[in-house]
Amino acid sequence: MTILVTGGAGFIGSNFVLDWLAESDEPIVNVDKLTYAGNLDNLTALNGDARHIFVKADIGDVTVISKLLADHRPRAIVNFAAESHVDRSIHGPAEFIQTNVVSTFSLLEEARRYWGELPDGEKHAFRFLHVSTDEVYGSLEKTDPAFREGDQYKPNSPYSASKAASDHLVRCYHHTYGLPVLTTNCSNNYGPFHFPEKLIPLCILNALSLKPLPIYGDGQQIRDWLYVKDHCAAIRRVLEAGKLGETYNVGGWNEMANLDVVGTLCAILDELQPRADGLSYASQITFVKDRPGHDRRYAIDATKLERELGWKPVETFETGIRKTVEWYLANQDWVANVTSGAYQNWLGKQYSH
Ligand code: NAD
Ligand code: DAU
Repeated sequence: MTILVTGGAGFIGSNFVLDWLAESDEPIVNVDKLTYAGNLDNLTALNGDARHIFVKADIGDVTVISKLLADHRPRAIVNFAAESHVDRSIHGPAEFIQTNVVSTFSLLEEARRYWGELPDGEKHAFRFLHVSTDEVYGSLEKTDPAFREGDQYKPNSPYSASKAASDHLVRCYHHTYGLPVLTTNCSNNYGPFHFPEKLIPLCILNALSLKPLPIYGDGQQIRDWLYVKDHCAAIRRVLEAGKLGETYNVGGWNEMANLDVVGTLCAILDELQPRADGLSYASQITFVKDRPGHDRRYAIDATKLERELGWKPVETFETGIRKTVEWYLANQDWVANVTSGAYQNWLGKQYSH
């Protein structure tokens, strides 16, 4: 048996591939376009491992995808491939519509064609698992209950709107064609291989190079944070036992304001690698212009996943963020490779003000 994973050279996808092959011998065909966010350095531990077959391709490339499905006959597709950064979606939404909507539609079409021709036993066992986000539900007030699976979709950014569109397509492929789909809607991940355009890795790296730690607006926006390996375990569990056509919220029960997140990681850095001048890294915190349309609060109610499938996060924010900071301190070569070239152009574009 084999599974096909898309976007497996990105942050969550590469963690998923590594964890999957650490826990089982079932091979993975990993299809990734290698955009700026895709990085084969994340997968060097699998060099020479015959269980990992990497293919550089767009999920919208019908010729490649149909051939891969015919050649490898996967029992499941796990779709991580997406444009994932909200700020980039504000600067340029077109790529988000292209990959997250148009190419995802194309992948669904190929999956439907492939699944439709499978013999009964394989057809019954096949799964299409779509990895999505809590951002599709919109923004919460401070006292609102956390997002539940039946909540209305109210996406506010080009990124979340494009993910919402893909979720709707996945849903309709089940309802109309019977494609055996599963969808997961997860909160903010953090951990190893997180590309430093996102808040946590950006602030770890800026802190260590004595640069400002940019906090949008008043820093009181709230996110729920989940250690990436807990997310990967949730996806494995949903793939294994999720009910067809259902959606599952995935979260860490770790709601925190951005300013507190950055304060926590500064305190860990102060302990593990103190500044030469004795000042705290927190002295580098700098308030900058807010993100347009910035969602105030996300919170995930992951009760359904716990009750029905028995999944619970293993890490608390305190244990997970310490592991993450330690990982960045220990992997300076990885950091040096991802922060050259195009990454510097992005920093100039986003933070020049
Ligand atoms: P990422 O940006 O780190 O990685 C995305 C990967 O997809 C990259 O390797 C990229 O090269 C690849 N890719 C992009 N367009 C492609 C295309 N057209 N064809 C093939 N490959 C393509 O993203 P991530 O943070 O790892 O997120 C993975 C998935 O999880 C996304 O669908 C995202 O919406 C979702 N998600 C992310 C988070 C989070 O906190 N990062 C939380 C919830 C859900
Ligand atoms: O909620 C799940 C989502 O989490 C995923 O679907 C997205 O793919 C993922 O990128 C993430 O989106 P966010 O926008 O929440 O993540 P980001 O790390 O970009 O920002 C986290 C918070 O920190 C957000 O409120 C914006 C703020 N922020 C971010 C950056 C990059 C800052 O204050 N300063 C910054 O420089």
